[in-house]
Amino acid sequence: MPRGPKTTEWFERARKVMVHGVSSGFRYWGEHDTPVVAAGKGAHIWDMDGRRYIDYQLGFGPVILGHGDEYVVERVCRAASQGTVFALTQQIEVEAAEKVMSALKWPAAMRFTNTGTEATMHAIRLARGWGARDLILKFEGAYHGAHDYVLYSTAGAPAAHLGSRLRPVPWQASSGIPDSIRTFIATLPYNDTELVEEFFDDHGHELAAVIVEPMAGNFLGVLPEPGFLETLRRLCDENEVVLIFDEVKTGFRLGLGGAVEAFGVVPDLATYAKAMGNGFPVAAIALSEKMVEGWAMGGITQAGTYSGNSVAAAAALATIERLEEGDAYDRIEKAGTALMAGIRAILDERGYPGCVVGHPAMFSVFFGEGTPREYRDLVRHDARVYNATIMAMIDRGVMPCPDAREPWFICAAHSEEDVTRTLEVFSDAFDETLARAGSLRSVGEDE
Ligand SMILES: Cc1ncc(COP(=O)(O)O)c(C=O)c1O
Repeated sequence: MPRGPKTTEWFERARKVMVHGVSSGFRYWGEHDTPVVAAGKGAHIWDMDGRRYIDYQLGFGPVILGHGDEYVVERVCRAASQGTVFALTQQIEVEAAEKVMSALKWPAAMRFTNTGTEATMHAIRLARGWGARDLILKFEGAYHGAHDYVLYSTAGAPAAHLGSRLRPVPWQASSGIPDSIRTFIATLPYNDTELVEEFFDDHGHELAAVIVEPMAGNFLGVLPEPGFLETLRRLCDENEVVLIFDEVKTGFRLGLGGAVEAFGVVPDLATYAKAMGNGFPVAAIALSEKMVEGWAMGGITQAGTYSGNSVAAAAALATIERLEEGDAYDRIEKAGTALMAGIRAILDERGYPGCVVGHPAMFSVFFGEGTPREYRDLVRHDARVYNATIMAMIDRGVMPCPDAREPWFICAAHSEEDVTRTLEVFSDAFDETLARAGSLRSVGEDE
């Protein structure tokens, strides 16, 4: 991706003050490719050279209404001008919590946190405290944040390091995690009901919780097969295990009620973040009645200086109001459906083996044979062709994430014109990539 001179200059400035020039490792595209953004509005962002991109990263999913949504920004500014944190419960926090609860419908209570990582960390502690057990089951390819207990077999895992499908080996995604933490985590392939049943036969009595992204938002947006979430619910009930839905990506994105509403299975705990605040840092843990009762008995710590601050609360309140009252979900469905169908048609026209996976609000393009149903299927995904296609799209002003596992996110501000332009650009970029196949370089590789 040829960066303009000003963007390059700003990346050099960034590198002098921030490690690799970024504040989060996932934003680093390598020395030659990492962009720097000046501003965003609606579905568009601009780099430091003033080049405009139609944005499908949307901050890795939070931006559901569009960048800089005026209604949300105005409410946030008003709230901030009246103070942000008081070491006390505040009015707007109560109003926002009422709004979250009425949107989600199923929980008995909730608490705010600031990030998805914080929410899953607290949810896991709560589950362990509630059941007085330590073992957590997660699914391969899922990402539940950057804390030690969940950085296993995430979407960076090389398939060869995952062990046998029947008895997977949790793959540690980072240095700096004590080896002993591995003993508290078990991993299984997503969507394999039979393997989960076998696992529960052997280990159900040891398990504190199952944590699952109800739709696999960190590998392609693979959907749960009928019966998968229902089986998790049944096995957790039978074994007194806490079922945690990590709705950080799906919450307020698949609809107001998130994955619970979309798939009709109710967890014991769920974590929300991203689309709940249209890009402002706000997150929450939602609890069923039995978890509220367990927590109320005391002895389980949850805390956060900034949790429920007025900026976060105002962002959630205003975002959910806009989602409830406007036509945001209709617009997202229309744009997402048109893009999914258009990309499918382009692949079919060329007779290329691939498919479009997911939901109109969050979908991926899979370059390989068959339909992926679990993380291990990504070995069939031609990540090089995908990555080169996306980089050629970025050159032409359309920006999905170059990471082949990360879904395209749609917001209410994506217009018909954006969709038409995106399909033209995808078609050109894909043809250019196929013509160059054999001499491809990936993002981050030196020229
Ligand atoms: C499903 C899921 N859970 C948790 C997280 C962590 O959220 P955060 O980056 O806000 O800490 C993410 C982030 O992408 C996520 O996708």
